Amino acid sequence: MQSRSLFVLLSALALSSASPLRRRCSNSTIPAATNPDNSTSAAATPTLPTTGSGTQLDGPGSATLKHILVGHGIQNYTCSAAGATASSVGALAVVWDITDLYPGSSSSSLSADDFNLLTSRVLRTTEIPLNMAADGSTGAVVASPFPDPVDLVIEGITSAVKFMGHHFFDISGTPTFDLSGADDGEYFKGKKDANISAPSDADKGVDPATGAVDWLRLSDKGTSTGVSLVYRVLTAGGDPEACTDVGQTQSVPYTAQYWIYSN
Ligand SMILES: *[C@@H]1O[C@H](CO)[C@@H](O)[C@H](O)[C@H]1NC(C)=O
Ligand SMILES: *[C@@H]1O[C@H](CO)[C@@H](O)[C@H](O)[C@H]1NC(C)=O
Ligand SMILES: *[C@@H]1O[C@H](CO)[C@@H](O)[C@H](O)[C@H]1NC(C)=O
Ligand SMILES: *[C@@H]1O[C@H](CO)[C@@H](O)[C@H](O)[C@H]1NC(C)=O
Repeated sequence: MQSRSLFVLLSALALSSASPLRRRCSNSTIPAATNPDNSTSAAATPTLPTTGSGTQLDGPGSATLKHILVGHGIQNYTCSAAGATASSVGALAVVWDITDLYPGSSSSSLSADDFNLLTSRVLRTTEIPLNMAADGSTGAVVASPFPDPVDLVIEGITSAVKFMGHHFFDISGTPTFDLSGADDGEYFKGKKDANISAPSDADKGVDPATGAVDWLRLSDKGTSTGVSLVYRVLTAGGDPEACTDVGQTQSVPYTAQYWIYSN
């Protein structure tokens, strides 16, 4: 039946076309019936990861998942005294779209284990995607921390993942996502609703291996476009080292998944 209707279609095209042979070879005349076995099977609906034990972040309620992103960058800290716990003063990261890698959601999906370990893999096998200072410090170039947008090639993953934008803190210390790679120009300024510790088996990071930053729920501060909620989950690295000096600054490499929702 399939081949019969294709034959009818091709015959009709042949009749209506001045150059039937060319038309017949064009992909656009052969509909996407090439993969009939599973093309109608329902794709898995992504479920926000949990840490597996203890208190969890509140869920997204009725908000709709728009993208799952992987972010790679640095967490910044300052120190008020030797021996003090460093305090967070922001972060810089580039984010890429990994929605299609969610287990069971597409032909390029990863296994559940590979998906959960993706942040660790990105942290350990790709370069920090920032213009890093040439002075030997661990920081990024203050005036222009972000290089030109590029898709990210990840070892073992067939296609490069799409550049989606930048994460940074604005001048008043508000966590911001500029998702210029999204079709509808999404922009988010958030406030922290809650934080929970990463699971004890989370990747503690490399150089320094100080620990994985908390998982977070951020909601719209009021001026966002196209995004109402952002979760930071499956973190790897990013925790500060113990402070050694007053005024010491630290920039600690990290990766995370960011789950982006809209109302
Ligand atoms: C037709 O599709 C095949 C397989 O997807 C591809 O390799 C080929 O380049 C396409 N041809 C044209 C003319 O688009
Ligand atoms: C659908 O079938 C194609 C061809 O058999 C396969 O390459 C692809 O991985 C399948 N997709 C899913 C989601 O199972
Ligand atoms: C983090 O520190 C780097 C320098 O290491 C700087 O370029 C960047 O602006 C800082 N970002 C924030 C949010 O503090
Ligand atoms: C949440 O973050 C604050 C500030 O960094 C920290 O003191 C607290 O321990 C964190 N709470 C949890 C549950 O991790």
